[in-house]
Amino acid sequence: MTLEGYPRDLTCKDGTTLTVRPVEARDKDALLAFYRELPEEDRLFLRDDVTSQLWADRFMASIDYETVIPLLAVTADQEIVANGTLYRTLHGWTRHVAEVRLAVARPYQRRGLGTAMLRELVRVATSHGVEKIVASVVDNQVGAIRAFEKRGFHREAVLKGHVKDIRGHKRDLVIMANDVSHIWEAMAAMVADYSPTLGG
Ligand SMILES: CC(C)(COP(=O)(O)OP(=O)(O)OC[C@H]1O[C@@H](n2cnc3c(N)ncnc32)[C@H](O)[C@@H]1OP(=O)(O)O)[C@@H](O)C(=O)NCCC(=O)NCCS
Repeated sequence: MTLEGYPRDLTCKDGTTLTVRPVEARDKDALLAFYRELPEEDRLFLRDDVTSQLWADRFMASIDYETVIPLLAVTADQEIVANGTLYRTLHGWTRHVAEVRLAVARPYQRRGLGTAMLRELVRVATSHGVEKIVASVVDNQVGAIRAFEKRGFHREAVLKGHVKDIRGHKRDLVIMANDVSHIWEAMAAMVADYSPTLGG
């Protein structure tokens, strides 16, 4: 399995250079270690128990680069410092939509890595024909909401009392959305412009 365009370099705001590449089978233990290192505060509202071996086994088995497309940011010695994943379906009425989930290691937060990973994920999504990207964020995750807003997402809906944190406290879930169909349409127009069968 490959993902076109990767690996590629990514430079953080402070000049740190990282590599962005898809998750591979060999990453399972390191990915689990990455999530186990995240402070509880950052894991409080993640959808799954990303610290469990069961989650890691299921996640790795689900990767196909078509419906589950996970990207990593890694240091020169292959330490995982960010994981962002696109989830989509190929059929049904939301086949044009992808959901994004993202986490950045604490020491690497506030260096522009989250927004840089989102840029990569938007790029991958549009290259797969995705027209709309959504992210589910809990109402008090100010940092996450800002990071998504910086990449063109807006608050599209609020589901009241929809999530319980790992301590059992209920919070509102904010659905952030980014309509990227214009990128997709511009790419299609570019291809049409260069088509030898069009334009006389
Ligand atoms: C959300 C998250 C991915 C952001 O990653 P990041 O690398 O820190 O993001 P960036 O450095 O690109 O920050 C982008 C902007 O978001 C805002 N931001 C990020 N963290 C913030 C915080 N803790 N408080 C306030 N604003 C914050 C800032 O406006 C920042 O821009 P600035 O640094 O130029 O002011 C990271 O905080 C994280 O992994 N959180 C835990 C997991 C999570 O909540 N995921 C989202 C649900 S899918």
